This record gives sequence, structure tokens and C-alpha cells, in this order.
Amino acid sequence: MKLAVLASGRGSNLAAILEAIDAGRLEGSVAAVIADRDAPALERARARGLPAEQVPFRKADRAAWDADLAEAVAAHAPDVVVLAGFMRILGERFLKHFPKRILNVHPSLLPAFPGARAPQAAIDAGVRLSGCTVHLVDAGVDTGPILAQAAVPVLPGDDADRLHARIQAVEHRLLPAVLDAIGRGQLDLSTHQWTGPLGDADARAALLAPPGLAERAPA
Ligand code: GRF
Repeated sequence: MKLAVLASGRGSNLAAILEAIDAGRLEGSVAAVIADRDAPALERARARGLPAEQVPFRKADRAAWDADLAEAVAAHAPDVVVLAGFMRILGERFLKHFPKRILNVHPSLLPAFPGARAPQAAIDAGVRLSGCTVHLVDAGVDTGPILAQAAVPVLPGDDADRLHARIQAVEHRLLPAVLDAIGRGQLDLSTHQWTGPLGDADARAALLAPPGLAERAPA
């Protein structure tokens, strides 16, 4: 399974995908990493000898940017497009190019707390559990069909960074496990149904989020 990874940030989820591939927990390859700005994720990709490309965001020319982005990604012929910390909303052109093949990872238990600053929103709301969601991308903001979720506790004294780090530790297990399941035909992207177990033992453990596991530092 060929993946195209879109990122705007430091790329710890990209690193988790690459680690899972190296460890044999994810059958597939990263065909390209594409960013909307000069993101540290591009450096990670280059360090691995992977194609890394910038399609700088053009606010005044959103539709053309969207089409350029679709073209840049399509050039690598990915089976699945993964938004791993990609901070832009994709337009119609892009979505039409890759129907039911774009995944996003979001740091909350959707549909609670969509959008930016989800960990802070969870703290402000006083919830006791948060986590992460892997979902298919549609035209809304974090609204597409949910494929998998993992929970972590919100602990006394948490600030947004502390909670986000705990959430990211489970993102790094869940996202590669979901991708692996798709590659193995155990998760059907057209029906959103799992036809097999969540194969990765770490990801299963993440669903329960014992504090010891949840506190492990993100990569
Ligand atoms: C992750 O927490 C993800 O849920 C959100 O953006 C963050 C990206 O982190 N969409 P990284 O760039 O993968 O480290």
C-alpha cells in the first residue's frame, strides 16, 4: 500500500508511520511527504531519502492551490492519503481526486472538540476522557466517518501540552494500526466497517489507555 503523507508540523505521526513500516507492523511504503509550508516533517522525510515537496498555501488563490496540491499528490499515485498534522482544509478538487481515500488523525474523541486547539477545548470543558480519532476526510472540519478511536484520561493539573503529548502517544499507535488494517483488507473504507480485529496489540492496549502506557513520551 502506497501512502502519501500531508503534514504542516513536526511530523511525529509521520515518524510513527515510518517506524511501524520498519518494524513490520505496517505493510506499505511512504511514496511522498507533502507540506503546505516549510514544515519539519519535510526534513524527516528527506533524512529518510523520501520525496518531500512543498506546495505553499495560497490563501488568495485557494482553489488553484487545492488543484496544485491534488496534482502533486496524484503524481505519486498513492493508495491512501494521510493527513498527519495537516492544518489546511482541503477543497472540492482535492477531495474528488481521492474519494474515500483520505484519512485524518485528530487529537480528540470526535465529534467532541473538532478544529484547532482540541486539547485545550477538552480541558476547558472539564471532560475526564479525551483521546484521538482516525477518520475519513470530507468537506467539513473533522466531520468525516470515524474509523477508530483511542481514549486517554485527562489528569488533574493537565495543560494543553501535557494532554496533547499523552494523546499523541496513542495516535502513534492507532494511526499505523488503522493503516495496516486497511492494507490487509480488514477495514473497508467504503463502508467504514472493520472486517477483522484491530491487529496491532499496542493499538488495542491504547484503546484502554492505562496511565503507564499513556504517559509514554511521544517520538
Ligand atoms: C496531531 O496531534 C494530530 O492529531 C493533529 O496534529 C498533530 C500533528 O502532530 N491533527 P505531528 O506533526 O504528527 O507531530
